[in-house]
Amino acid sequence: MVNPFKIAVIPGDGIGPEVIAEGVKVLKYIESVDENISFDFEYFPWGCEYYVQHGKMMDDDGIERLQQFDAIYLGAVGYPGVPDHISLWDLLLRIRKSFDQYVNVRPIKLLNGAPTVLKDVTPDDINMLVIRENSEGEYAGAGDRLFQGKPHEVALQTGVFSRKGTERIIRYAFNIAQKENRSLTSISKANALNYSMVFWDEVFEEISKEYPDVETHSYLVDAASMFFVMDPKRFEVVVTSNLFGDIITDLGAGITGGMGLAAGANLNPERNFPSMFEPIHGSAPDIAGKQIANPLATLWSASQMLEFFGQAEWAEKVLTLIEKMLVDKTVLTPDLGGNASTSEVGDHMVELLKQL
Ligand code: NAD
Ligand code: IPM
Ligand code: MN
Repeated sequence: MVNPFKIAVIPGDGIGPEVIAEGVKVLKYIESVDENISFDFEYFPWGCEYYVQHGKMMDDDGIERLQQFDAIYLGAVGYPGVPDHISLWDLLLRIRKSFDQYVNVRPIKLLNGAPTVLKDVTPDDINMLVIRENSEGEYAGAGDRLFQGKPHEVALQTGVFSRKGTERIIRYAFNIAQKENRSLTSISKANALNYSMVFWDEVFEEISKEYPDVETHSYLVDAASMFFVMDPKRFEVVVTSNLFGDIITDLGAGITGGMGLAAGANLNPERNFPSMFEPIHGSAPDIAGKQIANPLATLWSASQMLEFFGQAEWAEKVLTLIEKMLVDKTVLTPDLGGNASTSEVGDHMVELLKQL
């Protein structure tokens, strides 16, 4: 018996359980045909329904229990009826922060066969890796609400950019750019954010000196957003802050086939804690429960997890077959112009794996 990879599964809310079921289906197939791989899945029922029943998003010892796992596979969190800032801060953001998953890796890549809203653009033109700072910045949670309900009410939300936090994410991105022999673009906003982003730019400049062989660029986030649409080819590896990374990766999803194809990994590179793999999209209440959610983003995140486990071959196979499905166009969900159900897409992926 091989040592199993221990995976905590948190299907979560809305379409989360629908897409995660397909990811687990594919992982279970892989385990069934590869005697060198074994997964131990444990499910956690946490999310908004759990909150309605128990008054909390996860068990009190939840973080402690998750800590035993090699990885967390998460669907989505958030549903109408529970305020978003509670559901997200008490579950998703709590996990990212407790486990110091300070790197959020989001490939913005136009796969072969994927539709794009852009004109005259091919997969060669959109192939970026966005490295989003995932532990602090605008998401530090520092702030206050003063004089609530009074006419002079005040809300404070302080961005926190530590030297340690800024250096480690920028260095992580430089290492990837260097290894892959690609350029690195920093996206910031120092013209307006005169403390945090001036600091960010300084750190980027400083660290770039350690990597003289890496071509660098620096953009303001507003102009970068325009170039994402008008000339995405200029971006290869991208490093940016928590909030900017959140926004530009949904924009990136928008030019590479939509939310159903956008994958992400929350990494603790030192592996002191479990990392978490999840699609970029949310719980999509507008389509939840209809079996029409696209599970391909969640499958791509599973591919990232396989890679993280050192199973590069399987990771590659899953991604290649996602591309094949996009090229064939026979079994796709409605967001990609097909009429297949969520589970038919997962079944088809298993069929294609069988044919390899
Ligand atoms: P969303 O990503 O859930 O949905 C945006 C749009 O994309 C919707 O029209 C939805 O139908 C579509 N979409 C998303 N995923 C899809 C898929 N797999 N297949 C087909 N279409 C898909 O964003 P939202 O509507 O702004 O947020 C809904 C809820 O999810 C909110 O509570 C929000 O806070 C939460 N949220 C959670 C996460 C997460 O858990 N990682 C991420 C984003 C938003
Ligand atoms: C994402 C999501 C989360 C974020 C929300 C749900 C807190 O939008 O993973 O992109 O902003 O990080
Ligand atoms: Mn987001």
